[in-house]
Amino acid sequence: MARTTVRQLAEMKERGERIPMITAYDYTTAALADSAGIPVVLVGDSLGMVVLGYESTIPVTMDDIIHHTRMVGRGNKNSLIVADLPFMSYQVEPAQALRNAARLLQEGGAHTVKLEGGESIAPTIQRIVDCDIPVMAHIGVTPQSVNAFGGYRVRGRSAEQARQIAKDALAVEAAGAYAVVLELVPAPLAKFITERLTIPTIGIGAGPWCDGQVQVLHDLLGLFTDFVPRHARRYANLAQTISEAFTQYADDVRDGSFPTAAESFSLDERILDELGDL
Ligand code: KIV
Repeated sequence: MARTTVRQLAEMKERGERIPMITAYDYTTAALADSAGIPVVLVGDSLGMVVLGYESTIPVTMDDIIHHTRMVGRGNKNSLIVADLPFMSYQVEPAQALRNAARLLQEGGAHTVKLEGGESIAPTIQRIVDCDIPVMAHIGVTPQSVNAFGGYRVRGRSAEQARQIAKDALAVEAAGAYAVVLELVPAPLAKFITERLTIPTIGIGAGPWCDGQVQVLHDLLGLFTDFVPRHARRYANLAQTISEAFTQYADDVRDGSFPTAAESFSLDERILDELGDL
């Protein structure tokens, strides 16, 4: 199997073939996503919440994303690896964005980058794309704007917001983005945008009509119990499985049933006898 390319994603849209995408933050989960045939893996700044324990994505740094992108790259040989540009690594000016996008490729080993924003960030997308770094855009609810939005509520229900999100979608496509994430927007608006754009739309809480779907690994596996978004479907309940395993392990250690002889290593008795002199 060869690694998924940006061009293949465009072809998938043309064929009407849906694009599954998932986040991963380390070697093990990236390898599992690879063996499941997931074509696109995102090293999202959601790692700030689900891995690093912050309340939002705001504290995530370039070094955090690079560190985790390296792990993902070592575990995954076939997916397109997308790395998030974290808060304030691209908003200051296009030259800053370009330098940091290049770092994600050169130091992290990502194949493409993702950044948040629509019309206002389009010149920055164009600057990065002009240097042959493919950009995935991200519009609708943009979690790095949590303090401006005052939360993570659906956007695009009012006529004004719906128009702005549609304009954002057209602007990022015109700037050269190869795909766009639509986060927490009404399904009919996502459908309208998906039909208007030639680039794939990847939805998260954006209904069934997007060209692809992305989910945070921890939501999908039932690993993150602090909060379960309405749009997430749990395919496993790993938090419960892990908690039961930990409890069982602790019980086995306490009552001496772990480890057994089969889980230990033997020693020639003569060597033990010699130790008797000590
Ligand atoms: O950081 C992330 O995981 C994301 C997805 C929610 C799209 O940006």
